[in-house]
Order: sequence, then structure tokens, then C-alpha cells
Amino acid sequence: MANSERCRTTVASVYRGTFLHSTTKTALQILEDALLGVNTEGKIAFVGEGYELEKLSQTFGFSPSEVIQLAQHEFFMPGMIDTHIHASQYSYAGTALDMPLLQWLNTYTFPVESRFKDLEFAKKVYTQVVKRTLRNGTTTACYFATIHTDASLLLGQIANDFGQRALVGKVCMDRNNSVKLYKETSQESQDEAYRFIKELLNRKYPLVKPVVTPRFAPSCTEALLTQLGAIAKNNNLHIQSHISENNEEVELVKDLFPGSESYTDVYHKCNLLTNKTVMAHGCHLSDKELALFRETGASLSHCPNSNISLCSGVLNVRNVLNHKVKVGLGTDVAGGYSSSVLDAVRKAIDASKVLTIQNPGHKTLSFEEVFRLATLGGSQALSLDDQTGNFEVGKDFDALRVNVAAPGGPIDLIQHEEPKILLEKFLNLGDDRNLVEVFVAGRKVVPFTEPGSE
Ligand code: GUN
Ligand code: FE
Repeated sequence: MANSERCRTTVASVYRGTFLHSTTKTALQILEDALLGVNTEGKIAFVGEGYELEKLSQTFGFSPSEVIQLAQHEFFMPGMIDTHIHASQYSYAGTALDMPLLQWLNTYTFPVESRFKDLEFAKKVYTQVVKRTLRNGTTTACYFATIHTDASLLLGQIANDFGQRALVGKVCMDRNNSVKLYKETSQESQDEAYRFIKELLNRKYPLVKPVVTPRFAPSCTEALLTQLGAIAKNNNLHIQSHISENNEEVELVKDLFPGSESYTDVYHKCNLLTNKTVMAHGCHLSDKELALFRETGASLSHCPNSNISLCSGVLNVRNVLNHKVKVGLGTDVAGGYSSSVLDAVRKAIDASKVLTIQNPGHKTLSFEEVFRLATLGGSQALSLDDQTGNFEVGKDFDALRVNVAAPGGPIDLIQHEEPKILLEKFLNLGDDRNLVEVFVAGRKVVPFTEPGSE
């Protein structure tokens, strides 16, 4: 091998054991006694089988004695992807779930979000949410912050410091808000969105990028939506918002945008539906609207905890998949009370089972399919599937080292179980005690190593 080639493929660590991941063809691919090499850039250099150790060690220049062997009951799976989480709402997660969406926003959400003008408060909450989600195995998060540019930049800095892959959005909203201290004018919103994007990009964080974030159509004038669509287009940026979460909101959008054919059409007209757009919820979208998602390449974030907690609706994920619309999972903290994607996995299965109870002809999502939503599906929904989502060679090594039988953990294994059963047990019963190590782009981010970060 030429020297230059060897340099490029210099391997930093090699693991041997069970690897579980999804591909576009298979919801669950099981690789037993596999070898996976991570290069010095944090990318997956090779995936092979145990018997190929000799050959791979020669090709990639590592010593077989350096190979890290997974223990019994351990496996690697891809890091989980939270496609929709409000970092700023983490302070009241687990409370305030007694109202429908629009009342909930005015009563609880906007007053709390207004506090992020205070950078000390922002630092405290944002540090906690980044640490908690990393511990829970969220290697990629798509965050809503608040309207405050400097606090939103701070969220980006904290995610970068702890090594989480993140899209960070400064929220834009220029109407229909009853909370006095949480307002911006159209001009401010647009100018600050631009400043946020420019400053975050200037910092050149390798894993943290800005996302254009109109809160949702009822909070934005058409003029602001149009401006944000243009900013996203001119800078080739990600876009996130909410759509069709509850019926009252859908009716409100009809009243506010009488010239639009549908809620989806409101965003489409403003160039906000692209293949880098993720929209949360979509519980009440028509098949015609789903077809427009498919056409534009926009995706959905399924947030079942929030949809149930705020009594918003039940998204039919099977129908979304049948329309070939990209879909991932979101916690939607604090509308969803849990910051763990594992909880989103369980609630997604429960929601699908409710649909089957209501209509026995409905094909329930399998745990393998929901595993794919939590990993590869999420990466596709965020258009980051060239970098993360599974263990394909060339992608970044974003991974969870899971010990299903972790001492002091929540799972009792009575007998030796095959990998598929281990995964099913972990998804249904596991928690952060089972996550021995968490890696993002090859860097071990859990347990924490930053001084004073414990
Ligand atoms: N729609 C607009 N803003 C929000 C929010 O903060 N949470 C949820 N769940 N839906 C929204
Ligand atoms: Fe949300």
C-alpha cells in the first residue's frame, strides 16, 4: 500500500464483537463476531469478520493485540438521533402537561423561554440538557433554542464542548404571542437569524451547525417565513419547524393563511420545504400533503410522547413510510416529558399499537423498524446520513457501547440470549446505566472527560 493511502486509513481503535445497525434494505442487520476499525479522523475505516483479523491487521497496520473485545452481553449500536428537542424547555420537562398546545405555549412555554435573555440561566439549562441527552445516548440532536441569539450561540458552544453532533436553531417568531417580554419584530427576527447563522458558521465547529427555525406558521408572518426561506436557500442551510400538530392549530393556520391550500402549502410557498427540512409532528397531514413532503424531500420528526402528553393526535407512521417520506424520532422536550430517545422508541411502538387497536388492519411498527427510525431514519430525516446513522464504512463512528447486563442496571438476564433479543430487551427496558460508553465521530463523549463536567 502506498504511504499516502496508509496515512489516510491509519486506524486509531479496533473493536471486536456484536454490532447491530440498520441499512436502507434491512431494519436490523446483525453482525456477530465482527471487527470494526475507527481511523484517526473518527471515521469507520473497515467492517469485517473476526476470522479476517490477520488480513485486516496487515492492511490497516494495527496489532491484533490492540483489538478491544466486547464483553458478554455487550453490543455496539449506532448513536441515537433526536430529530426534535427544545433545549430551552428542559428546565420544566416532566411538568405542565395539562393543556392543549396553544394554551400550553402561552401559559408555560413562552414565559420560560423569555428567561434565556439571561446568559447565566441559559448556560445552566443548556449544559444540563446536553449532558443528559449524551448520557441517554443521543449522539445527534436537532435543537430549538429561543429567540435570543447570544444564548443560542452558547448552546452551540456547549454542544461542541461536550462533543455532541447538533443542529442548533435560534427561534424566529414575529406575531401572536401574548407574553410581553418574549417578542421580536419582523426586522429583528430576520436580522438576528442572520447574525446567528453567520456567527455560528464562523466558529467552524466540526459537528455543530445552524438550522433556520421559524417557530411555526401561527407565530410567523408570511413576510418573515419568506425571508427565512430565502436565507436558507442562499446559504444551503437546514430548516426546522412544526406542522399539523393539533386540530386547533390546523384551523388557526387556515384562518391566518386563507390564500394557502393547506398547512404544508404555507411552508412550500415560502421555500421552506427542501431536502434539508425537518418538520415536527404532522399528525393531521393529508395524503396530498405527504405527497408534497415526498416531492420536496422534506422529512417528519415523529414525537409520540409529546403527541400523547398534549393530547395532540397520533401520527400514522406506517402511512408516512408508505408515502416514502423520510421520518425520524423526536423527544420534543418539554411537550414530551422524556429527554431519552429510548422513551421515544417505546412511545412510537405504543402509538402504533393504539392505531392497530382502533383498526386491526393497521400494520403495527416492529421494534426493528422503530430501531431504524431512532438511528438511520433520524440521520436521513436530518440529511446527515452521509455522516451518521449506521456503521457504513466512511461514516463517522457515532456509537453506543451497550451492556445489557450492566451491574446495577435495569435488566436481569436469566439466560444467554441472542443479539436480537438483547436489542429488544435494551430498547424496552434499558436506560443510561446500560450505556457503558458513547462515541461521537470516534471521540468518547460518555463517560465525560471535560474537567469539572461530572
Ligand atoms: N409549536 C410551536 N411551538 C411549539 C413548541 O414549543 N412545542 C411544541 N410541541 N409545539 C410547538
Ligand atoms: Fe416542538
